Amino acid sequence: MEDIVLDLNGSFVALDEMNSIKTEIMNAQETLLDKKGISSEMTGWIDFMDTMDKKEYEEIKKCGKFINENCDAFIILGIGGSYLGAKAAIEAVRGDFHNELKSPQVYYAGQNLSGAYLKKLVEAIKNKEVCVIVISKSGTTLETALSFRIIRNLMEEKYKDEAKNRIFAVTDKNKGALKTMADLNGYKTFVIPDDIGGRYSVITPVGLLPMAAAGINTDEFIRGLKSGRNEYTKRDFHDNICCLYAAARNILSRRGKEIEILVNYEPCCISIAEWWKQLFGESEGKDGKGIFPASLNFTTDLHSMGQFVQDGRKIIFETTIFVENAGDDMEVPYEGDDFDKLNYIAGKKLNYINQKAFEGTFMAHSEGDVPGIIIRIPAMNEFYLGKLFYFFMMTCGISGYTNGIDPFTQPGVEAYKKNMFRLLGRQ
Ligand code: PA5
Repeated sequence: MEDIVLDLNGSFVALDEMNSIKTEIMNAQETLLDKKGISSEMTGWIDFMDTMDKKEYEEIKKCGKFINENCDAFIILGIGGSYLGAKAAIEAVRGDFHNELKSPQVYYAGQNLSGAYLKKLVEAIKNKEVCVIVISKSGTTLETALSFRIIRNLMEEKYKDEAKNRIFAVTDKNKGALKTMADLNGYKTFVIPDDIGGRYSVITPVGLLPMAAAGINTDEFIRGLKSGRNEYTKRDFHDNICCLYAAARNILSRRGKEIEILVNYEPCCISIAEWWKQLFGESEGKDGKGIFPASLNFTTDLHSMGQFVQDGRKIIFETTIFVENAGDDMEVPYEGDDFDKLNYIAGKKLNYINQKAFEGTFMAHSEGDVPGIIIRIPAMNEFYLGKLFYFFMMTCGISGYTNGIDPFTQPGVEAYKKNMFRLLGRQ
């Protein structure tokens, strides 16, 4: 297998049903690609790989290399679309235990308001050489701004005038508090384009700078994005897996399958699901509509939520990301006494056993009336990750327009802020 493959064989969606929604999907795709829909001014991500300023991209790689070579740890400050993609990419590509096995270590702040979390983070980095990447399009998000104030003070205390060379800002081109502060203090800044919203921004400096700093090959990532753009903008329903995935999930949702769980069998993919949840949840959950995106990590969660999936309310469909070649592997050793009765699989590799667990689970859930969609990925590297991100973003745009909502706004997230600021006494 040499490409990302969408397998709908276990989805309980018949070909005639797919054909019945085809026109709706193709209209939605046309609306998206021809920029005719609501909020079409926020679709700059479709071609960003080509429109990106080449000089800025070279600067990203240069600064990424600087961070990679000049610190023991760097902190990514951001929330929502301003950190989830970078975290997903770094964990997926650098792999499990990357902070223990690779340098620099990567930490996150500004994604919550916990004093306990920030205090412990400060403790963890106390004796390390540190760089900071602060990411905020608005520049005014409370979680990020607050953490940045504290981290910035610590950086200035530790590095004095040199602090400015260790702080990098990714923000709006012209406006916002972060932009003003960066200009005043002389931080290197990178631009989040006006026509790309937070949850579609992993392909911009928002994702690229942290990836480059973590030693990820961004050229390969962009190659994957471009390959995704070439394939997933095809206006051919049966030859475009974004159209097919959007069709299947909308059919299932209309049948009462209100929850889509994204499942993985590789711990390094857990944060891909976190990014995916934001993408689909913020894009589709509005006007009283939307499929609720959830995620489970198998086989771990088969020993907890697996019960609900198998036997609970029949409102779930399951989309599995399966990595065909997980890379590193280990073999089950043979033992003469066989006390643990595992000799029947002695000599087998763990990744093979994991695959059998997936196949067994898929069959069981199918028997439990849980439709299953499989997204098969040849390997979890920069190229396929870029392509996967693009696949999901394109599907999300098509799916959202099919469902008659605006996939590029998030008015609902303002409600908690209003109350919180009132309670905090902000004028
Ligand atoms: O998708 C979005 O737009 C949000 O999740 C934002 O990314 C998030 O709220 C952070 O906003 P900002 O980058 O302005 O700090």
